[in-house]
Amino acid sequence: GRRPRVLSGIQPTADSFHLGNYLGALREWVTMQDTYECFYSVVDLHAITVEQDPELLRQRTRLSAAQLLALGIDPDRSALFVQSHVPEHAQLSWVLECMAGFGEAGRMTQFKDKSARQEADHVSVGLFTYPILQAADILIYQADAVPVGEDQRQHLELTRNLAQRFNSRFGQTFTVPSAHIPKDTAKIFDLQDPTSKMSKSVPSGVIELMEEPKRSAKKIRSAVTDTEREIRYDVENKPGISNLLAIYSALTGQSVAELETAYDGRGYGDLKKELGEVVVEFVTPLQQKVKGYLDDPAELDKVLQRGADKAREVTAQTLQTVFERVGF
Ligand code: ADP
Ligand code: NA
Repeated sequence: GRRPRVLSGIQPTADSFHLGNYLGALREWVTMQDTYECFYSVVDLHAITVEQDPELLRQRTRLSAAQLLALGIDPDRSALFVQSHVPEHAQLSWVLECMAGFGEAGRMTQFKDKSARQEADHVSVGLFTYPILQAADILIYQADAVPVGEDQRQHLELTRNLAQRFNSRFGQTFTVPSAHIPKDTAKIFDLQDPTSKMSKSVPSGVIELMEEPKRSAKKIRSAVTDTEREIRYDVENKPGISNLLAIYSALTGQSVAELETAYDGRGYGDLKKELGEVVVEFVTPLQQKVKGYLDDPAELDKVLQRGADKAREVTAQTLQTVFERVGF
């Protein structure tokens, strides 16, 4: 039989992925290539649920793809593609929208959170149906697994419900996907506010993979810590130091316990300086690779075309079955 399939996507809504994206998600994408048949998408359809500048969106889509390649997504093993290049996502999404309850969609807490901050007419219907497009992204590949963090659990549950509903109404059509709980991911916190997660929406304490490496080192040197002197992992009482240790451990493979021993009796300044060096060593070659992909647009186009072709071998088949089943 085939290898189990996995689908995941990331939005092209920033000029750079950040260290949280990498250590919390994208690193696992790379690892999953060893066991799964992987479909990885730069989800530009999802991006336009909030207003985007067209030229910037186009640039960021390419930049996102280049970063994924540089981080280790291998286009010979995985399908790496841009969501809008594969029209079946939107086509299946419509069918699923017609099977989802309005109340069911209205219970999605992420939509409630995102829309609560804005006036109703500034919130697009697309933002409301976003989780249904996400369900289509997954189901169109007959994905067996989806890597999910806490914030995506409810969306995966909706996806499973829609798959089961379709299957029981029209006959077995979709694989009902399970959550892939990554073993090796770390939640990374903001360097200036180590109790909230590192996020592109809070720019000050974020390590961007594409920023000047010296800038990253500087941000680490000025990370918020505490007034003690001990380098010890204790999220509750020492969130800043714990975050630095978690990043250090994730990037070097040394365990937190090993790091605590190595830094026994040494100061916060040493830890920050050396972690800065670790980060610089990680991002410098990465940025070189990204530059390589961006300097050869024809080659990048070819890679993404190949990814979309690979994806469409699967999506066309699923959509044909779905259309037949619903009576088209
Ligand atoms: P952001 O929070 O910066 O908007 P996204 O929501 O686009 O990032 O997240 C993209 C992926 O990166 C998701 O899988 C998400 O769980 C992961 N991720 C984002 N921020 C972090 C973080 N601080 N630590 C770990 N994983 C993260
Ligand atoms: Na986010």
